[in-house]
Amino acid sequence: MANIVIVGTQWGDEGKGKVVDLLAEFADIVVRFQGGNNAGHTMVVNGEQFISHLIPSGILQKKTCLIGNGMVIDPAVLIEELDYLKSKGIDVGQDQLMISEKAHIIMPYHKQMDHAREKMKGDKKIGTTGRGIGPSYEDKATRRGIRFIDLIDPEVFSEKVKTILEEKNFYLKEYLSSNPLDFDDIIDKYSEYAEILAPFVTNISLVISRAIKEAKHILFEGAQGTHLDIDHGTYPYVTSSNTIAGNACAGAGIGPKKITDVIGIVKAYTTRVGQGPFPSELFDETGANIQEKGVEFGATTGRKRRCGWLDTVILRNSVRLNSLSGLAITKLDVLGEQEFLKICTGYEYDGKIINDFPASLKVLSACKPIYETLPGWSEDISNIRKFEDLPQNARNYLNRIEELAETPIQIISLGPARDETIIISNPFKDF
Ligand code: GDP
Ligand code: IMO
Ligand code: MG
Repeated sequence: MANIVIVGTQWGDEGKGKVVDLLAEFADIVVRFQGGNNAGHTMVVNGEQFISHLIPSGILQKKTCLIGNGMVIDPAVLIEELDYLKSKGIDVGQDQLMISEKAHIIMPYHKQMDHAREKMKGDKKIGTTGRGIGPSYEDKATRRGIRFIDLIDPEVFSEKVKTILEEKNFYLKEYLSSNPLDFDDIIDKYSEYAEILAPFVTNISLVISRAIKEAKHILFEGAQGTHLDIDHGTYPYVTSSNTIAGNACAGAGIGPKKITDVIGIVKAYTTRVGQGPFPSELFDETGANIQEKGVEFGATTGRKRRCGWLDTVILRNSVRLNSLSGLAITKLDVLGEQEFLKICTGYEYDGKIINDFPASLKVLSACKPIYETLPGWSEDISNIRKFEDLPQNARNYLNRIEELAETPIQIISLGPARDETIIISNPFKDF
């Protein structure tokens, strides 16, 4: 039995989709446990690119995919994703996809509120994906959310929408100067969604528990990144769920004793989409070069990703917050042809050195990165499959990351495709 959690260590888009797709070969089940279609996870197999927003990235390996109770689901997007996969020759049946009956539903007012609030905030906006994620989690916390179990019961669903819509329409119209929504429109659309999705809805905690008893291997696929975590990230410039490994338990319905390993995905440099402080951000030609070479555009919104050097203050924060047992370094190929590379090892604030990630945004925004400089390499490394065959300077860069993170590197990704990878130590190998 191996139950491995994969999390992003930075601000999302580290390459979780690629690594989950790769490791899913050795797993029986892949579970998403938080977030929604704010996520965009890319897989490249046989030259074809797939982007998943809701369905776990184990789908291409034909594994059982579970949508956990900790997720918020836009049913229209889920249906679109099923259609998209079908158009690519992957027909996802009820034996392959299961949705937690307790997962919350994203409603039209959530999306509208997300957009209208961002507009109202102007310069102070979060830069959300506009998918209704925050407002949906907000309703979950204030106990006004609608779950899948409610969606598939027409009477309960209609009763809940009636009560909630009155308040939402008042807020939309009177506070956000946005259009109110029509009850019948919502019921018509959502009853269609319910009919399509009802056969997939089940108790996934039971499914997982049975699998664990049968000594099956489970992969838990995190979305976003540790520094977008609602508690531990750069609040309020974060998403609205806990993205750290601990939430795999709450968001899937299993106990912490069942998790065997946690792998942190680390992009070889740093990127961020949306607003919020980013100490090692580059505003020069090097940043523009990494953005271009790394094709750093959001997989969900298409926005340009901000780019900067690798920051090991945030990496060490992730090691601690997630109890990382190993690292997967991605996009190392993108750093080729840089004369030198920089690694941020600490921050300078008010004449003092800070080694731990500060909670205050005011402090973080004023932090200046302290860098170590290492020589780069010019060789194309994308075809290398053994650590020993990497140029010495690439090995030095990786060894230094390992040292600073005090955590072993298990996987190195050298290109977007599944096979453009060096596996130093397969986390499933001991099981
Ligand atoms: P996720 O949200 O963490 O799954 O990451 P995204 O899919 O949003 O963004 C990662 C991007 O980098 C995608 O376009 C991947 O295809 C691509 N990618 C992943 N690993 C590598 C790599 O090692 N090298 C290169 N060049 N691209 C990669
Ligand atoms: P994956 O799983 C990168 C960011 C948004 C915004 C903030 C809040 O692909 O790594 P939200 O819509 O969640 O309320 O937006 O979080 N964000 C992501 N950034 N990758 C993601 O997912 C993200 N999901 C949300 O850009 O700054
Ligand atoms: Mg992404």
